[in-house]
Amino acid sequence: MIAPELEERLIAEAVRSRGNAVSNRSGFAVGAAIETEDGTIYGGCNIENATYGLTVCAERVAIWKALSEGVRKFRAVAVVTEAETPTPPCGACRQILWEFAGDVPVVSVTVRGARKTYRMSDLLPEPFEF
Ligand code: THU
Repeated sequence: MIAPELEERLIAEAVRSRGNAVSNRSGFAVGAAIETEDGTIYGGCNIENATYGLTVCAERVAIWKALSEGVRKFRAVAVVTEAETPTPPCGACRQILWEFAGDVPVVSVTVRGARKTYRMSDLLPEPFEF
């Protein structure tokens, strides 16, 4: 679903970004990367803080970075975690990714190399839109 060379570049950026995770509260570092229509890749990591509730996931950090630079069209997302099996984005991120990136593929990988690709329309089949 994602061209192989692009998939490797996206994952590499997600792995790099994961190294910047502020995940001292949960101990669960996450990296993400999003590719724009022109091939630019923006990375992001999860950022936790003392309130816990104001934590922002890696996927949203990545897309906020792109949106705040004026980007509005996206092609693919990668997520990297240290979970046993690949994890799809959380519910909040599904809503945001759907609204701003649409029906893009999301490849999730683990640091041990397990890999699974989802489509946003499968992850959020009945989205809230208005
Ligand atoms: N987290 C992400 O960054 N992305 C996900 O897809 C799931 C969860 C973060 C939020 C929190 O900092 C930590 O992982 C544990 O839930």
